[in-house]
Amino acid sequence: MGENKKVIFSGIQPSGELTIGNYFGAIKNWVKLQDEYDCYYCIVDLHAITVKQEPKDLRRRTLQLIATYIASGIDPEKNTIFIQSHVPAHVQAQWILNCTSYVGELSRMTQFKDKSKKYEDTGIGAGLLNYPVLMAADILIYQADLVPVGKDQTQHIELTRDLAQRFNSTYSETFKIPEGYIPTGGAKIMSLQEPIKKMSKSSDNPNSFILIMDPPEVIKRKVARAVTDNIGVVKYTDDQPGVKNLMNIMSCCTGMSTADIEKKYEGQGYAKFKEDVAEALIQELEPIQNKVNELLKDKSYLQDICKKGAQKASYVANKTVSKMMRKVGFILPEK
Ligand code: AMP
Ligand code: TRP
Repeated sequence: MGENKKVIFSGIQPSGELTIGNYFGAIKNWVKLQDEYDCYYCIVDLHAITVKQEPKDLRRRTLQLIATYIASGIDPEKNTIFIQSHVPAHVQAQWILNCTSYVGELSRMTQFKDKSKKYEDTGIGAGLLNYPVLMAADILIYQADLVPVGKDQTQHIELTRDLAQRFNSTYSETFKIPEGYIPTGGAKIMSLQEPIKKMSKSSDNPNSFILIMDPPEVIKRKVARAVTDNIGVVKYTDDQPGVKNLMNIMSCCTGMSTADIEKKYEGQGYAKFKEDVAEALIQELEPIQNKVNELLKDKSYLQDICKKGAQKASYVANKTVSKMMRKVGFILPEK
């Protein structure tokens, strides 16, 4: 972990079973970055409770997420893998940043608007509004240079930059200004049923998503049922969003370009193409599934990784939080 390497921070919420959107949009790219950067890969459980969670499911998914990071190829020796709630600095930094954020800018976030619609009748939790401030804290306390996320998170990264700049100009230079890092191919995997919407683990229709842990026969069935069109040509175009999405998925699995995929399926219709997409996914996911199941048998190994990760993360994060406290005028506790 070279001191001079640039810093990467990213995280996923343990709020549902992970989809291939999370895998191609996030995890698979993280693996590629681990040699070049000093990476902090977090399980953001504090974010997960901004909507209601069943405690036992949250616990199970948190462990499964750690296992998935490792099974996908994120090396716990090279990277800092940890659970957000194990590092209190995230919450301390969030409170301070909260006090420099405006309700107006937070309520303009697309994700807040989308998520809060669901809760209009039952009451919109304050955590949903403050969610991106916690995300900004996550990133800024590690002085991260780059934040690899899917396209849906770009607005939150913009806000993080705004909050960092505002704090720096109010209290003097404190934070590095981070940049988003959006992958090209897997940037947005779409729903298999409504391919103009993003594939989401919180969708009510299980046919709309494929989970990293879906067994082969389920993958085959879901791909076979994926909505396409009646044009009948495998072509990479916005006019055929269903086909385009399946091509993206195939490209993410095999590394083939979408132009090559077009060529390969010229004049063939959708049946064979869909079979091959399913097969490519199974090839990609099966080894990961086996490894996840293996790792979940040894919970103390996973907990040990998180413990070491949290120690390293706390050390770095506490330095930034002390700086923040000093700058806003708090008296630091005696060491
Ligand atoms: P979330 O599931 O919202 O916690 O997202 C975790 C990570 O996966 C973030 O970097 C998202 O941008 C990414 N992600 C989630 N869904 C998709 C999708 N359908 N396509 C690409 N990336 C996604
Ligand atoms: N908001 C992100 C998502 O839903 C998860 C997240 C929380 C995150 N904190 C982060 C991502 C910090 C990157 C960096 O996908």
